[in-house]
Amino acid sequence: MRANPFLWILSSLVCTLTATPVYEVVRLTMYWVVHESSMKLGSDTALKTCRGQILANVSHQFALKIRLEGSGVLRNGRIINLSNCKCKPGTDFSCFQEVREPLGSFDNILIPFISIATNGTNFGKTAYSPEMDGWIMPNGLRHNGCLRVDDDCPACSNNHIDFFVWNETNYLDLVRRYPISRLHLSYNRYCQLLNWNNEFKKKLLLS
Ligand SMILES: *[C@@H]1O[C@H](CO)[C@@H](O)[C@H](O)[C@H]1NC(C)=O
Ligand SMILES: *[C@@H]1O[C@H](CO)[C@@H](O)[C@H](O)[C@H]1NC(C)=O
Ligand SMILES: *[C@@H]1O[C@H](CO)[C@@H](O)[C@H](O)[C@H]1NC(C)=O
Ligand SMILES: *[C@@H]1O[C@H](CO)[C@@H](O)[C@H](O)[C@H]1NC(C)=O
Repeated sequence: MRANPFLWILSSLVCTLTATPVYEVVRLTMYWVVHESSMKLGSDTALKTCRGQILANVSHQFALKIRLEGSGVLRNGRIINLSNCKCKPGTDFSCFQEVREPLGSFDNILIPFISIATNGTNFGKTAYSPEMDGWIMPNGLRHNGCLRVDDDCPACSNNHIDFFVWNETNYLDLVRRYPISRLHLSYNRYCQLLNWNNEFKKKLLLS
């Protein structure tokens, strides 16, 4: 007799929801995108698209930094990311595009205070950290401990997560209030990501 697919789905769902969470201890670090506002004023260097259209005139220092890091935020809030061509070595900056949100390694949107990067494992999976559950984020939001692997961290070792916090100020604020360098993480405990809605974004970007 064939198994009823509905019952099979139901029972595997129940298993997922009731399985004992398995926790691992991971190292915690944080990362952010480069912000033009954190650097000296300047407009001597043009960031261009692959076809040579000027997106913005910025300082040479910021241009080098954004080319290295991959994405950044201009003083006026516009977000620039590497595009699908390569900058030529040296002082070429014709490899960018404007995007609506900072992007991760798979061109997916990075969500501040939710996205984490790992050494290449568990992409797309949610993960729950009991230590982070209850943290108050710099934008006033109360964290529920639920994270998602949205990015790759080539520099991360095993059992290491890099938490995306948007800018350096947020990083400094969080490490001051929550000075921990390790936390527990479970990839099999059900958790629901906080709703990354307009209200949340407004608080983050306009505060
Ligand atoms: C950047 O500078 C160039 C040359 O000075 C100017 O023609 C262009 O309008 C500027 N573009 C932007 C987006 O500011
Ligand atoms: C945005 O930049 C990241 C590097 O930070 C790169 O991996 C990604 O491919 C870029 N996105 C697009 C759409 O090219
Ligand atoms: C990434 O981390 C996982 C989990 O700790 C580990 O099993 C794996 O070997 C690591 N992979 C690399 C490429 O370091
Ligand atoms: C960093 O982002 C926070 C919101 O998350 C904002 O309040 C703060 O002004 C930003 N800091 C800088 C230097 O842009």
